[in-house]
This record gives sequence, C-alpha cells and structure tokens, in this order.
Amino acid sequence: MKHFDVRTRINFGENALERLSELNYRRALFIVDPFIVRTGVIDKLTAYVDKTGMAWDVFHDVVPDPPLEKISVGVQKVLEYGPDVLIAVGGGSAIDSTKAIREVASKMDPSIQPALIAVPTTSGTGSEVTSFSVVSDRANRRKIPLVSDSLLPDEAILDVNMVTSVPPMVVADTGMDVFTHALEAYVSINRNEFSAALSEKSMELVMGYLMRSYLDNNDVEARDKMHVASCLAGLAFNSVSLGLNHGMAHQLGSNFHVPHGRANALLLPVIIEYNSGIDASTKAMDNYPLQVLQYADAARRLGLQCFDTVTSVRALAGWIRFMMKEMKMPMSVSETGKCTKEEYFAAIPDMAKAALADACTATNPRVPTYDEVVKLYENLW
Ligand SMILES: NC(=O)c1ccc[n+]([C@@H]2O[C@H](COP(=O)([O-])OP(=O)(O)OC[C@H]3O[C@@H](n4cnc5c(N)ncnc54)[C@H](O)[C@@H]3O)[C@@H](O)[C@H]2O)c1
Ligand SMILES: [Fe+2]
Repeated sequence: MKHFDVRTRINFGENALERLSELNYRRALFIVDPFIVRTGVIDKLTAYVDKTGMAWDVFHDVVPDPPLEKISVGVQKVLEYGPDVLIAVGGGSAIDSTKAIREVASKMDPSIQPALIAVPTTSGTGSEVTSFSVVSDRANRRKIPLVSDSLLPDEAILDVNMVTSVPPMVVADTGMDVFTHALEAYVSINRNEFSAALSEKSMELVMGYLMRSYLDNNDVEARDKMHVASCLAGLAFNSVSLGLNHGMAHQLGSNFHVPHGRANALLLPVIIEYNSGIDASTKAMDNYPLQVLQYADAARRLGLQCFDTVTSVRALAGWIRFMMKEMKMPMSVSETGKCTKEEYFAAIPDMAKAALADACTATNPRVPTYDEVVKLYENLW
C-alpha cells in the first residue's frame, strides 16, 4: 500500500501574507534570516501579527546551511520564550533551522509544542512543505538530512512580495535546486503518479519562468511562478525523496560551502548521464532502463525532444548546461573558487563515503558504487 499526504495548508496568491493577521495563537516567535531584520521587512510582518493581538519576539541568529551550534541557541530561545507558534521567514536555511529547533525544543520540554508557519523568501528548497531539515555538523564536515513527519510545517505562505528582492545569482542557484528536486523525484525508485504530476508541472514552470526570473527581479509573474514551482517540487520529493545528485551535493556544501542549488546544478547533467548511461557517444538501443524513458519523457514535456530516446536525454542534459551558462553559473568545482585542487581531491574519499550514506541517495534509480562516486567527483573538478 502507498499513500500521498499534503498536511501543510498552503496559502498563496495575491497578498497571501495577510494570513498572518488571521492567526489565532498567543505567543509567536519569528525565526528569520538576518536580511529580514536588516531590510526592515520584519516590521511589515509584525504589523500583520499585531492585528491579532498576539505577543511576539524575533530570533534572527540564522546562518546559511544551519550548523548544530546555531540550532541549540534557537532551542534555548524557544524554551525561554515558550511560544505556541513559530513563524519561519527566509530561505531554506531559516526554515530548516526552525524545523530542527522546534523538534529539539518540544522533546526537551513537552509542554512546548508550537505550530510552525513557513514563509519562504527564496524559490528553491520547497522546505515549507517537506518533512526534511538539512543541518550541518561543521566539526565533522557533514550535512545531515533529518527526515520525519514531525518536521512538517503546519502552514506555508507563498507571497511573491517576499522574493522580489532575491539577487540574480541566488535566483539561479535556487531555481536549479527546484529543477533538481523535480527531476530527481521524477526518476526516484519510489516515484508515483501523484509525485510525477507535481514534478511535471514544476519542471514546466521552471522551463517557462526561471530565465525571466533571473533576468528581471521586477518580473513579478515569473517570480510568482517560480515560487509555486518550488513548492510543487517540494511536494513531489516529500513523497518520493531525491537521489544521488542531492547525496553528492550535500558533501560539496558541507566541505566547501558551495551554495546548495549551485552544487546541485553542477552535478545535474553529470548525474543524468550517469543514471542513464548515456553520453555523447552512446548509440540507440532496443531496450532502455526505466529512468532513461523517464528522462526522455521529461525532455519531451519540456519541448526538448529530439528524434530518439538517446538524443532526447542528451538534450535534457544539454538544456541544463545551457541554462547554467546563460545564468553565469560555474560549470565545474574549480570554477566555484571555493577550494584548491589539492583540497578538493584530498576530500573526495570521505565525500564519496558520505554521499553513499546520505539518506537521499537511497532512492536513486541506479545503485552507485564507491568507485563510481569517486570518479564522478573527480570529473567534476
Ligand atoms: N528542507 C528541505 O527540504 C531542503 C531541500 C533542499 C535544500 N535544503 C537546505 O536549504 C538550504 C539552502 O536554502 P536556500 O537555497 O533557500 O538558501 P539560503 O536560505 O541559505 O539563502 C541564500 C542567501 O539568500 C539570502 N536571501 C534569502 N532570501 C532573500 C531575499 N528574499 N532577498 C534577498 N536575499 C535573500 C540569504 O540571506 C542567504 O544569504 C541548505 O542548507 C540546503 O541544504 C533543504
Ligand atoms: Fe535541494
């Protein structure tokens, strides 16, 4: 038996933020990305909450790729303040921090069981609707994907006004994260018709709106569609998980601080080629593994179909490389400028072991070996 759940209420469309003025709680703790405080956006948010008569406080000690130490500072704050609702505002880092903080605080003091409302300010992780929270163990250079239904936010608020300030580079990174979520879910070994439908719509929106969103932050229609695409992809992978792409990307994030979406983008064409066994010299075959047909199907739906299955899969990888070039993204680890060649190659054995052990890798359509993952990392330099 299988099941498909959407437990998070999704508030979207024009003025979705007004949902904050309808809430019925006593004490709210905002957990926000520092830019929310720096730019004064927090005043707009608290003005909505003031209409409800709720008390509130703000915690803004959130950093990208949330480390365990910061989570424990947040836990302390929740235990002291005793909120009955947490309002997470920011990119995946702020939302993941809030999920982990709630999880730990409510275990330490069972009388504190706050609701969680997620207001994403990037269009990337889909964290507002997922039971995943990715935390960083800096001492051991590991990213730990926590997975539990208890991490699911109760509500998400998708308001385009929260994403018009996102700079182009972050649009590119987070947009490629969306596409990676949708495509990894599309070829996941757990794929089902519900997740596939969500992936298809998400990929279609990325195809139509990512470049527009990158080129013009006043293109509100494009930003809005990308915000929806991100949430749809989140719903898809929340049901069927991800794959080797994310398993390997997490290691580039934890070892060298390559931004999450950028790490995914670097890997994506390479992983399509690895999973499908199709590269520039592959000939047509009589029978293809299932994931090859699924990649070709994705290419067809995006208008990238070529005259046969092999060339369609190649076109899909080619389109991703085209988008990366157009959005001035690095095309290799060396181009990220995050590490020297020596540092990178020295880290590969540990990264390969960690990628194989990463929870996301378990649903990859091709079972990777240690040697294969080492080779994939080497080729990425
Ligand atoms: N929980 C999940 O399901 C899931 C899925 C994928 C990734 N992740 C995790 O999420 C994190 C990445 O999240 P992200 O890609 O959203 O990046 P992020 O939250 O780290 O934000 C990236 C940068 O953009 C800035 N920013 C955010 N919103 C902005 C806005 N509206 N205007 C201007 N600047 C803004 C932030 O201050 C930060 O500097 C990683 O830790 C990754 O591992 C989680
Ligand atoms: Fe991701």
